[in-house]
Amino acid sequence: MTRKTVFSGLQPSGNLHIGNYLGALRNWVKLQEEYDCIYCVVDLHAITVPLDPVEFNTDRLEAAKVLIAAGVDPERSLFYYQSQVPQHTELAWILGTITSTGQLNRMTQFKDKADRAGSNLGLYSYPVLMAADILLFRADAVPVGEDQKQHLELTRDLVERFNHRFGDEFPMPEPIIPDKGARVMSLQDPTAKMSKFEPDESSRILILDDPDTIRQRLKGAVTDSETEVRYDRAEKPGVSNLIEIMSLFTGASVESIEAEFGGGGYGNFKEAVAEAVIAGLAPLRSNYKELDDAEVARLMQRGALDARTRAEGFQQAVRKRVGLAG
Ligand code: TYM
Repeated sequence: MTRKTVFSGLQPSGNLHIGNYLGALRNWVKLQEEYDCIYCVVDLHAITVPLDPVEFNTDRLEAAKVLIAAGVDPERSLFYYQSQVPQHTELAWILGTITSTGQLNRMTQFKDKADRAGSNLGLYSYPVLMAADILLFRADAVPVGEDQKQHLELTRDLVERFNHRFGDEFPMPEPIIPDKGARVMSLQDPTAKMSKFEPDESSRILILDDPDTIRQRLKGAVTDSETEVRYDRAEKPGVSNLIEIMSLFTGASVESIEAEFGGGGYGNFKEAVAEAVIAGLAPLRSNYKELDDAEVARLMQRGALDARTRAEGFQQAVRKRVGLAG
């Protein structure tokens, strides 16, 4: 039996945070045991907001290293930079011709980002490139955090439209969204998701933050005016977010965390969360330090070469379907 294909992508922004880790990355790593996994550093998506080219080049390598340090295994999974596989953009163009602008206008991430960074065509068609990423290798499943749900729905609509118009080519991809960790919230505004684009750095914990920074961030995390450590997303979003983070890093259940820290006050609890996060990220940090930049760059080039070969086979089928063969 052939194994199912998993695809996912992550933008290299230099600000990879524990939301990226808990919502997506950890699942990527686990899925490698069972599936044919394809993981992509989506650099073309990242340049839809203004970036310093020199810094970006460094961030891109850093992101590749963080993913490898977290457990993405280039020997087992296909792992590469999106920009080095031009079939992504070719398929995005083709899918763009069957995407309605009405549907793109409804994308909430576009609206958010356009408000903050200004609008451009790349940002607008971002979800179409994401659909192309997923469909290029005929992915069956896509591990993502909750914020990508709407983009997945667009992808699924495009599968239906393409297959209906040109014949069955793409399987219907299913999102894999974790029960817990799919939406890690900002430490400063627990009603908003933790985001790499938020200017206030104290709103997030970066995967590569040192222990002291992690302690400081958690100490300053916004909670509420009560003192009880209790999970209640609606009434106590700050504390609930911290409970969830702790639960994910230690494996302890929400109930056992409530039982252990319930009446001990927030200060004590926040210190314990900090130690759990530090311990949870420690292996990743030490793996990261061991990685050699030139070796990672070489792995990424090899990944791109394999990805191009694999993608080309699939793209030939698409070209044929739409009348672009030969
Ligand atoms: P990106 O780079 O913003 O985020 C990478 C992954 O992290 C998840 N994530 C979160 N999960 C939980 N809590 C949070 N606060 C949080 N913030 C981010 C995201 O859901 C994502 O899974 N458009 C995508 C990248 C992409 C992609 C793809 C994903 C491009 N092509 C194809 C899957 C398949 C994005 O911007 O992710």
